[in-house]
Amino acid sequence: MTVGDTNRDTALFSTQGHGKDGAEKTALSPGAQRSDFIRQTVNAALKLVIGAPVEKNGGERGIRTLGTLARTTVFETAPFNHSGTSPRLQLYKLPVRRCKQNYARLGFPDYAPFTRETGMQDFTDKVAVISGGVNGIGFDIAKALAGEKCHVVIADLDQEACDAAAAEISAQGVSAIGHKCDVTQEADIAALADAAWDKFGHVDLLFNNAGVGAGLVSSTKMADADLRWIFEVNFFGNWNMCMEFLRRFKEQNSEAHICNTASENSIGWPMPRMAGYNASKAAVLGYTGMLRMELPDHISVSLLCPGWTQTDIGNSGTRRQEKFGGPKPARPSFPMDGDFFPYEVETVGAHTLAEIKNGSFYIFPHYAARHLAEERNDEIIAAFDAQTGPSPDWQKHDTRSFFEAMQAARNNKE
Ligand SMILES: NC(=O)c1ccc[n+]([C@@H]2O[C@H](COP(=O)([O-])OP(=O)(O)OC[C@H]3O[C@@H](n4cnc5c(N)ncnc54)[C@H](O)[C@@H]3O)[C@@H](O)[C@H]2O)c1
Repeated sequence: MTVGDTNRDTALFSTQGHGKDGAEKTALSPGAQRSDFIRQTVNAALKLVIGAPVEKNGGERGIRTLGTLARTTVFETAPFNHSGTSPRLQLYKLPVRRCKQNYARLGFPDYAPFTRETGMQDFTDKVAVISGGVNGIGFDIAKALAGEKCHVVIADLDQEACDAAAAEISAQGVSAIGHKCDVTQEADIAALADAAWDKFGHVDLLFNNAGVGAGLVSSTKMADADLRWIFEVNFFGNWNMCMEFLRRFKEQNSEAHICNTASENSIGWPMPRMAGYNASKAAVLGYTGMLRMELPDHISVSLLCPGWTQTDIGNSGTRRQEKFGGPKPARPSFPMDGDFFPYEVETVGAHTLAEIKNGSFYIFPHYAARHLAEERNDEIIAAFDAQTGPSPDWQKHDTRSFFEAMQAARNNKE
C-alpha cells in the first residue's frame, strides 16, 4: 500500500446495512481480507491520520480508527436521498481533497488532478439543448430546466413529436423550440446548433442524452446491425454532438456545461446480455472522463448514470432508422413498466440539475448499482496488489506525472 492510492482509502470499506440510529455501518470489504494487505493499509493510513503505524497502536484499534474515520467522512451521508439536495457531494469532494493531499505528501509538485469542483450554479435565462428530449429522461430534464427558468431546445428524431414536447415545455413559462435531429447525422447536428443559436443568440448547456437499447441478447447472438446501430447512436452520436457544441462553446467563451448521459452500466456491473449497450456506455464514460481534464475552465462536464428507469427505451427499435435496418416491431410485453423497472423517471431531471450545481462529475440518480461499482473497484485494486505490489520507487513512474512529463517534453519540442 502506498499513500498515493486514493481509491483504496474509500474502497476499503463496504456498507453493511444501517444501525438503529439510521447511520450506515461499515466494515472491511471482502476484497480486502488478506491480513498483510490490511496491516499495510492500516499502517499507511494511520501514518496519514495520526502519524503512527498500526504496530504502535494495536491492529484492532487501528482498524476501528479507520472505520470511524471512514464513517464520519465518507459515509455520513443520506444514501437514499433522491431529492436532489445531495449530501453525497462529499463522496465526490473527499477523493479530490485526498488526491491532492496524497500527491503533496509524496513530494509531487502542486497537483490538481480534477480541474473543477463547481458546476453551473444558476440556470435562469440560460439555453439548453437536449437530444432525445421528446421522451423519458430527456423530457424530464427539459421539465426540470423549465422549472428553473431555463429555455429549451428539444431535439429528437421526429419533428412533430419535438414540437409537441416543446409546446408542453413552453406552457411552463419559458421559451422552447423543437428541432428534428438524428444524432447519427452530422449535418443534422450542425443544423440543430445553428437553429439554437439563431433563435436564442447563445446556448449554455448541452444534455447529450439520445440513446437506444437493443433488448437483452447474448453476445454470440447479437446481430451486427444492432451492435452498429447502438454504437452509432450511443457513442458516435454522443461524441459528434459533444464536439459540435464544444467547438461553439469555446468560440462563445462563456460559462457552459455538457452533461453526457451514460448509464450505471458504465461504472458498475456489466449487465449480462447487454454487451453492445454496456460497451457503448463504457465508451461514453471513457471520453467524458478525459474531457473533464482537457476542457478550458469555462466549460464543465458531467456524466449522468441512471439506473433502470421507467421510460420507452425498451422500444427503441420501433424508431430504428432505415440505414440501420429499419423499425422493429413494438415489444408490448417488454417489461418497461413499474412492475419491472424500479425507478420512476420523474426524479431524474431535478436530481441531475442539483448535481450539476454541486459540481458532481458522476451523477447517480439511483443507488442500486453502488455496491456493484464497489465490487469492481475492489477487484481491480486487489488484482494490482496481488500481481504487482508497489515497488519502493513507484512514484517515479506515477502514470499521471509520467503523462505530464511526456506532454511537457512534447510541448518543448513543438
Ligand atoms: N431508461 C433506463 O433505464 C436508462 C438507464 C441508463 C441510461 N439510460 C440512458 O438514458 C438516455 C435516455 O433514454 P430513455 O431511457 O429516456 O429512453 P427513451 O427511449 O424514452 O428516450 C430516448 C430518446 O432518444 C431518441 N433517440 C433515439 N435515437 C436517436 C437519434 N439517432 N437521434 C436523436 N434522438 C434519438 C428517442 O427517439 C427517444 O425520444 C439514453 O442515453 C439511455 O441509454 C436509460
